[in-house]
Amino acid sequence: MPEATFSFPADMRWGVATSAHQVEGGNTNNDWWDWEQQPGRIAEGHTSGKACDWWTNAEADFDRAAAMGLNALRLSVEWSRVEPSPGEFDDAALGRYWEMLTELRTRGIEPMVTLHHFTNPLWLAEQGGWENRDTVPLFARFAGRVVRALGKQCDLWCTINEPSIIALLGYMHGSFPPGRNDFRAAMAVLRNLLLGHAAAYGAVHEVQPSARVGLAHTMIPMDPASPRSRLDRWASRLPDALMNEAIISSLARGRWALPLGVGPAWRLRKTLDWVGLNYYTRHIVRFDRTQRRAFFARQGQAPDAELLDGGFGEFHPRGIFRCIRRLRRLGVPIYITENGTPDEDDDQRPRHLLAHLHQVWHAIQLCCPVMGYYHWTLVDNFEWARGWTMHFGLFSLDHKTQKRRPRRSAELYASIVREQAITPRIIDEYAPDLRSELLPG
Ligand code: FCB
Repeated sequence: MPEATFSFPADMRWGVATSAHQVEGGNTNNDWWDWEQQPGRIAEGHTSGKACDWWTNAEADFDRAAAMGLNALRLSVEWSRVEPSPGEFDDAALGRYWEMLTELRTRGIEPMVTLHHFTNPLWLAEQGGWENRDTVPLFARFAGRVVRALGKQCDLWCTINEPSIIALLGYMHGSFPPGRNDFRAAMAVLRNLLLGHAAAYGAVHEVQPSARVGLAHTMIPMDPASPRSRLDRWASRLPDALMNEAIISSLARGRWALPLGVGPAWRLRKTLDWVGLNYYTRHIVRFDRTQRRAFFARQGQAPDAELLDGGFGEFHPRGIFRCIRRLRRLGVPIYITENGTPDEDDDQRPRHLLAHLHQVWHAIQLCCPVMGYYHWTLVDNFEWARGWTMHFGLFSLDHKTQKRRPRRSAELYASIVREQAITPRIIDEYAPDLRSELLPG
């Protein structure tokens, strides 16, 4: 009896995603390095140290990506290396990035370069970072310089990774630098990040008219605990606006959306050639009158949810489909710029990967323009405030010895890429539990 095969478009980009600070090692000149030195900031007092040692040897991992058959890889350039002090650009650092991009191209892998992935040069942080409006033109100048240096090897640019996370964790939650708790500052930072995106969009296109420029937007569906409860629905609205909607709406309409601001934001208009979705989980939101500081919203997981490791939220593959559908209204191609799970023993990841890719497939069937999928991540790396305690890699890493080992999911991902499809054989081999759901009847 013939069985369904979920085939992906032939020109689909299959990649992995990384960021400079998490993999390069030795990024001593940025705000995160400084943060890591402060007691109590990072889980178990970990520091990024040599990370995955990409600054000296990214090539061995590029070989691993190529051996899996990947045709895309997302990495970021570290602003503090390229511009170690204001207005001074380091050609040797740009040279190393040139080398990395060339090495990727040689292996048939198309790079996507992120210009800002969480870290700021120390000099920038000292003058107020993204709270300071002057950062907007400085970022555009940096972006233009990078594209002038690397444009022959790359035309796919991601300006800023997860503006909402930078603003919320750095300026409300306090777990990212600069560790503040100030709603107004968070909103100012978010506005400046979007203006920075728009300014960089212009700067990149000025140097490289054919560039494809977007940003990576993280989305967490905020579902009311009881959809019938008016209070739960009301409580979920602000978290949704902060995390998801205000950014999409401001970019789509060229007007600030609440609570980000009010009035025109014409600079944001037409600044997306594509949009990136980073998807990990969803939150269940319950009205709770004791949570005044969180605007009466208590965020958590559904009582019957399967949980991801390390308190990373709930296993909710349908969420990626819902987020893709929401992004569709921007009317531009969509890349899944991140999706993955922390799973050291890899007992959940194969099912996770298959279930999420099945939802991506479903979205494509409904004509959502998803052009590529970048799994987070290739090799375990330095997971920000969670240090080395989270294991997102298709390959495990012993960061002391720098030894890597493929997890079974690496083989699974390679099979999907090879087949350009999720086949019944793949489901049976890697996640038989999914058979009844994916192949009913
Ligand atoms: C995202 C970040 C990425 C990584 C994953 C797990 O929010 O963009 O750097 O830390 O989470």
